[in-house]
Amino acid sequence: LEREDITREELLQEICELLYDSLAYYNWVGFYFANHSQRTLHLGPYIGEATDHVTIPFGKGICGQVAESNDVFVVDDVTKETNYIACSLVVKSEIVVPIFVNGLNIGQIDVDSHTESVFTNEDKVFLEALMIEVAKLY
Ligand code: SME
Repeated sequence: LEREDITREELLQEICELLYDSLAYYNWVGFYFANHSQRTLHLGPYIGEATDHVTIPFGKGICGQVAESNDVFVVDDVTKETNYIACSLVVKSEIVVPIFVNGLNIGQIDVDSHTESVFTNEDKVFLEALMIEVAKLY
């Protein structure tokens, strides 16, 4: 991820596009970044259907819960989650992986799939490793 020819925003956008294009079951890929004083998440680069959820309060939805728990959240069936923010009715499963900089949870990658129970430990390990690389940009 050491690229000097493009900005960090452009690099994050390329990561979204690469994941989306390479993995057929990654149907929406995006970053949210935290504003710790406001306790809100803000949508960063993403690919997939446009979402109304540009700002998410800490604690709300899967993303908001990860902002507070600092843990990876894998959802096999979004219809079974009571604290969930639906961006699209075709989304069936989701994985959210936090990004840590000096121990602080600065944001996360959110991946949605149209296939139920599709995210495995392999996705978790892969995305965690990728978020360690992303953290180095901060
Ligand atoms: N489903 C997420 C909201 C973000 S959209 O999927 C892009 C959630 O429950 O936090």
